[in-house]
Amino acid sequence: MSAVRDIAVFVGSLRKESINRKVANALAELAPSSLKLQIVEIGQLPLYNQDFDQDTPQAYLDFRARVKATDGVLFVTPEHNRSVPAALKNALDVASRPYGHSSWNGKPGAVISASPSAVGGFGANHHLRQSLVFLNVPVMQQPEAYVGGADKHFDSSGKLANDATRNFLQNFIEAFANWVAVQSKP
Ligand SMILES: Cc1cc2nc3c(=O)[nH]c(=O)nc-3n(C[C@H](O)[C@H](O)[C@H](O)COP(=O)(O)O)c2cc1C
Repeated sequence: MSAVRDIAVFVGSLRKESINRKVANALAELAPSSLKLQIVEIGQLPLYNQDFDQDTPQAYLDFRARVKATDGVLFVTPEHNRSVPAALKNALDVASRPYGHSSWNGKPGAVISASPSAVGGFGANHHLRQSLVFLNVPVMQQPEAYVGGADKHFDSSGKLANDATRNFLQNFIEAFANWVAVQSKP
């Protein structure tokens, strides 16, 4: 039997009723048994400051260790002003340092964006991919995942409300499981 891969999930929204958190929860439920998804919180991280490379906050150390330990990274993000929400960019920066000790290095990854708008967070999705190139995160290319009209896809309890979205997310997370398997060292 093959190993279960630990997948750290980063949600780019901090709000309690976040649509993207609902997407992340749905993906965790739909994931095949080869993946175990866990949301890793980012809202507690102080704003990155290079001075902290010397006197490092415990929150940074804990976050970096969590990223370093994971088998894969999954980003589920809204779009803020056509780009990556500040909290998520901060998390990328925090775990990318100190220089030469990035925790992201080589972790297989995927990006999914969700927005009430029709464009589905395309701008955030691709700006995030730009940073992930530099951070040497091999990001799954297909299927791309821009979830538009996302506020309509969940019921009042936060569960998926239609089969089309469920099938789309299932296909995405199964493709990611294959991507992680291919990218991972035996
Ligand atoms: C500061 C800010 C900027 C936003 N900019 C965009 C944007 O560029 N594109 C977009 O589709 N939605 C934008 N929105 C709307 C978000 O898509 C919407 O609030 C969404 O619900 C956020 O995701 P969440 O539900 O996971 O928090 C913006 C919202 C905020 C608060």
